[in-house]
Amino acid sequence: MCGIVGYWGAKQASDVLVGGLRRLEYRGYDSAGVAVLTGGALHIRREVGKLQALADGLGRAPLEGSVGIGHTRWATHGRPTTYNAHPHTDASGRLVVVHNGIIENYMALKEKLQAAGHVFQSDTDSEVLAHLVGSCYGGDLPAAVRHALQQVEGTYAAAFLHQDHPDTIVGVRHGAPLVAGVGEQESFLASDVSALLDHTRSVVYLDDGNLVQIGPEGVRVSDLADNALPLEVHRVDWNPAAAEKAGFEHFMLKEIHEQPASLTNTLGGRLDQAANRIHLGDQRLTEDTLRGIRRVVVVACGTAYYAGLVGKYVLEELARLPVEVDVASEFRYRRPVLDPETLVIAISQSGETADTLAALREAKRLGCPTLGVINAIGSTMGREVDAVLALQSGPEISVASTKAYTSMVAAMLVLGVHLGQVRTTLSDADAAGLIRDLKHLPALVTKTLEMAPKVRALAEAFALSQNFLFLGRGINYPTALEGALKLKEISYIHAEAYAAGEMKHGPIALINEAMPVLAIATRSATYDKMVSNIQEARSRKGSAMGTVIAVATEGDIQIAHHVDRVLFVPDCPELLSPIINAIPLQLLAYDIARILGKDIDQPRNLAKSVTVE
Ligand code: AGP
Repeated sequence: MCGIVGYWGAKQASDVLVGGLRRLEYRGYDSAGVAVLTGGALHIRREVGKLQALADGLGRAPLEGSVGIGHTRWATHGRPTTYNAHPHTDASGRLVVVHNGIIENYMALKEKLQAAGHVFQSDTDSEVLAHLVGSCYGGDLPAAVRHALQQVEGTYAAAFLHQDHPDTIVGVRHGAPLVAGVGEQESFLASDVSALLDHTRSVVYLDDGNLVQIGPEGVRVSDLADNALPLEVHRVDWNPAAAEKAGFEHFMLKEIHEQPASLTNTLGGRLDQAANRIHLGDQRLTEDTLRGIRRVVVVACGTAYYAGLVGKYVLEELARLPVEVDVASEFRYRRPVLDPETLVIAISQSGETADTLAALREAKRLGCPTLGVINAIGSTMGREVDAVLALQSGPEISVASTKAYTSMVAAMLVLGVHLGQVRTTLSDADAAGLIRDLKHLPALVTKTLEMAPKVRALAEAFALSQNFLFLGRGINYPTALEGALKLKEISYIHAEAYAAGEMKHGPIALINEAMPVLAIATRSATYDKMVSNIQEARSRKGSAMGTVIAVATEGDIQIAHHVDRVLFVPDCPELLSPIINAIPLQLLAYDIARILGKDIDQPRNLAKSVTVE
């Protein structure tokens, strides 16, 4: 999982490449490199660590030249070292490649090339691409790439540059994202449009099997048999400033505070109060199709999976459909029982998560209608699903997902109301009530965010805890799971989440005075049960209970009798409560990680978009 940028034009290529890579650092950040054509020869710079190390090196010894390719890496084959960093060269040293993805048959290819005398410098699968294309090169770079790819199995987005071909950068896409940017006398390649926004808003989304050439002729797209394909140039409206921190210390904090706006965007245009209807925004998922559905299967990973678990409660409640939620990496290796009456919903912020994509493809293969609940709609998933429920929450840069999560839950609520109406399991009066509640949701989130100083004070008290336990019930059991994931991924504190009713079946043995317990105890159908679960744990003879912190509903004066600390959130309908309750947990994770001095936006071992298995 890596980020790729390519530039052909008149500017200093290294500036454009490093600027673009900065926007792509979320895709991986264990090393970075660029290759620039300088005075007719290729010059390569590579550094281990964050992109800044490369930028500093280029600052000390600039590379002059206006054509080049760059890469930020997240290791899959070979440790993060300088020699494993991209770009990689072929045997002649005259051709370079940057690659994102996995070459599955790289060992077989490598052995064949070694037998022919090729010497490899790295442990990567990517270097094989350079040698293979180099071995096919006879003066025509695009032809060499086409020829070489016939032997390659796996997934890739790659860019190639040959010093004898200063007028062409060749890009290919097969199972990993790649876009081209069209500028005035300049053109670009990138893993993602965010890398292009400082230079152009005219973007060509590439498909699997496309080969793209950028150079003085602009952008040319063809298939692997060299048939030219029509150029579809899309205009991107994202503001580059939207991808900046806008005064916040971290992207995560900015994104937490953006939630009133991101939820407004997710719900925007979908809640028709006058007609008491929902407009999903994609005509391809017709009411007839939805009426024919007998079952729903949700596939997703991580935070998106937890949004799917909330979705299960929502869809079962409103549409009375059986819903299963699967971790995508498990789903793809089972023999799932699917049929054309099963709607498969893939939930993903990036739309590029390899496991979710594979699960989606399996569902399509078995003839299921598919719906993507996706933020990056130009993504691979966005283009492969039958219909998209676009989150519209804007770019999410922080590795820890916050605004995309609440938008995913909001999208599942919108879908639930729509399905309930179409399937007549939801009365008009109840639909009207929910549409009204959803209209009010962004304002309620704004109000919830006012609790930030109280959460900060709580974080001060608990930042040194080694362990945390999160408890929830019903529709807020996934909230507990999400709260624990947020805390562990950015603060590295061990955190577990349980359905509160499960405590007595084992986990209660963990509890001691050093274990803070965060219980989500907002107004709900299971409120009394939740309070009993808290009491059960506290009344264990001979074992001291750690501090119990409750997330409770404003005005609940009883809760203080049962717990040590309370974070009050505004009252809201139970179905919407996972969104409201997620906010104090996001803030708590953020504040604890900040107090501990962790790398909040780019936590160790993680990357924003997991495009490998
Ligand atoms: C969220 O905080 C995580 N970093 C991670 O679990 C993420 O949600 C998961 O990798 C799925 O990503 P996606 O939504 O882009 O598919």
